Amino acid sequence: MAQSLKGRSLLSLKDYSSDEIRLLLDTSREYKRLKYAGIPHRIHEGKNIALLFEKTSTRTRCAFTVAANDLGVAPEYLGKDDIQLGKKETIEDTAKVLGRMFDGIEFRGFAHETVEQLAKYAGVPVWNGLTDKFHPTQILADFLTIEEHVGALRGKKLVFVGDGRNNMANSLMIGSAKMGLDFRILAPRELFPDQNLTDEAYRIADENHAKITITDNFEEALRGADVIYTDVWVSMGEEDKFEERINQLRHFQVNTNMLRLTGNPEVKFMHCLPAFHDTLTSVGADIKQKYGLDSMEVTDDVFRSRASIVFDQAENRMHTIKAVIALTL
Ligand code: CP
Ligand code: NVA
Repeated sequence: MAQSLKGRSLLSLKDYSSDEIRLLLDTSREYKRLKYAGIPHRIHEGKNIALLFEKTSTRTRCAFTVAANDLGVAPEYLGKDDIQLGKKETIEDTAKVLGRMFDGIEFRGFAHETVEQLAKYAGVPVWNGLTDKFHPTQILADFLTIEEHVGALRGKKLVFVGDGRNNMANSLMIGSAKMGLDFRILAPRELFPDQNLTDEAYRIADENHAKITITDNFEEALRGADVIYTDVWVSMGEEDKFEERINQLRHFQVNTNMLRLTGNPEVKFMHCLPAFHDTLTSVGADIKQKYGLDSMEVTDDVFRSRASIVFDQAENRMHTIKAVIALTL
């Protein structure tokens, strides 16, 4: 049974039971219905939350902002140059100050320890909007989207292809272990996830009848897949690693051939976004000029294909983040 989530932080899905994740997903679905029906749901009128961003964001920032406003909560955006955090004031002191003024705090940044420190000292719920290690609110949106497009999560074959040790791979692995999926990471060996985290994920998977496979074997990873999921090859904060990652991952690009290897004509394509699927961004153009690639982690035709559910996934960031704020405030 899920308990009330009031007052809880969300730093990683490790901290939530499968019943609690179920509650968050069901609540997200309900808020999506209310939003579509135009039914107001300002259940936290008069509250205030801080949105701290050390790194840039489109979806997470907008999702927190819109979700907060819909719930009657006032969001305050605090960018990396707006406050003293870590430069003139410790994380502990900042957390104590923000906790005296705000009812909840979202944090996106580099070190996972920062969001842990904020949660330790703020005295109000702290939500991880992405760190180098985990991106838990993304997984809630991903799972809601899988339920909508593919069906119940249990046993679904979800394959993450690419940088198998980044925040997305880590979080999908933990989330899948909690919710009983058949989760596979397809990556070159040097980009396999951290062994301690993998061991922990295996333990969680055992408790929840989930399956986890980490492999560099395409056939083993892709056979019968329901969903192929990828992410950027170079995460925020690693921008000096493009050449290295391109060399490691160029054969792991999601393309029509990879979709075909699943043997499932209904396989879906997912990506947390932003995606390098063409040369129309400044980074995409630079990569084309330096390495001759028209796309990186996914080809433009797959990104735009009927298999692709990436924009439903992006929208669901807002409905799921709304559920997190609504239940934990
Ligand atoms: N998927 C995601 O977190 O997107 P942003 O970086 O734009 O927030
Ligand atoms: N792995 C990516 C996820 C972006 C949502 C990054 O950290 O940049």
